[in-house]
Amino acid sequence: PYVNTKDILEKANKEYYAVAAFNINNLEFLQAIVEGGIEKKSPLIIETSEGAMKYAGMGDPLRGASLFVKMVREFADSLDIPIALHLDHGKNFKYIISAIKAGYSSVMIDASDKPLEENIKTTKDIVRIAHAAGVSVEAELGKLAGIEDNVASSESVLVNPDEAKYFVEETQVDFLAPAIGTSHGAFKFKGEAKLDFDRLKKVKELTKMPLVLHGASSVVQEMVEIAENYGADFGGSKGVPSDILKETVRLGINKVNTDTDLRMAFVAGLREFLQNNPKEFDPRKYMGTAKTYVKKVVSDRLELLGSANKA
Ligand code: G3H
Ligand code: 13P
Ligand code: ZN
Repeated sequence: PYVNTKDILEKANKEYYAVAAFNINNLEFLQAIVEGGIEKKSPLIIETSEGAMKYAGMGDPLRGASLFVKMVREFADSLDIPIALHLDHGKNFKYIISAIKAGYSSVMIDASDKPLEENIKTTKDIVRIAHAAGVSVEAELGKLAGIEDNVASSESVLVNPDEAKYFVEETQVDFLAPAIGTSHGAFKFKGEAKLDFDRLKKVKELTKMPLVLHGASSVVQEMVEIAENYGADFGGSKGVPSDILKETVRLGINKVNTDTDLRMAFVAGLREFLQNNPKEFDPRKYMGTAKTYVKKVVSDRLELLGSANKA
């Protein structure tokens, strides 16, 4: 069924596991994610960025949002696993309202680059509108700047736990993304991978709410190797190692945002297939291996985060 993201995350919070939130831009990634979810009997959160809405709608975000709702609902309504659709990093009012109008299960309002009081005010406005429509809300505190060489680039970029408590009380958001040292993309750490576990622990103790880890891709070595064997150059790429991810789940993370790992798996499969089948031009075939690799990464992640058999 198609569900509210809040229902998926409140159960995860009570039972100490995390659900991966996978970014999509098209049908093929959605199919691969759904296959992984069915195989693992896991709840799923599908998310799209504002860029994805614009891309799918050929410039019209409401049209893009409606397409995504239709695609996701078509699978969700006919399957036993709970599936939610979430707007990732909503920054523009127009996009956030389009997602709510189209029927998303939840939206993120990301005003984390604004001063605290402005972040609170903006978040509160969105919470009021979204909650009136039965849509849950994620917000972010701190910046995804990463920790370099084991030293937080600056105390001020990571979440302040006392501020987090104040923020959630003021805004009434449903889940919170605290910055603890991750960053988006395939190049997260220059030296050893390290996150601020103490900070995460304090935020959980003070808020007790479902927490979200952004920039959580692991940069799966197997996929990097396949892609590089077939011509890619991903030199210097590094993600959040599995054991560190597991520790964040133990300390209270319930939603694990994953985009980069799926993109890399897809391109590995695509490159492999095209190089091995120079005469092939049927998209259902050349995207076949790509989808198989995305599904594998999805299944492994659902198992790792503990959401397998929680549907
Ligand atoms: O948070 C970023 C996601 O990976 C989506 O990125 O804006 O390229 O769609 P995008
Ligand atoms: P990755 O780039 O680590 O996959 O992070 C995705 C993300 O945080 C989407 O919001
Ligand atoms: Zn993110």
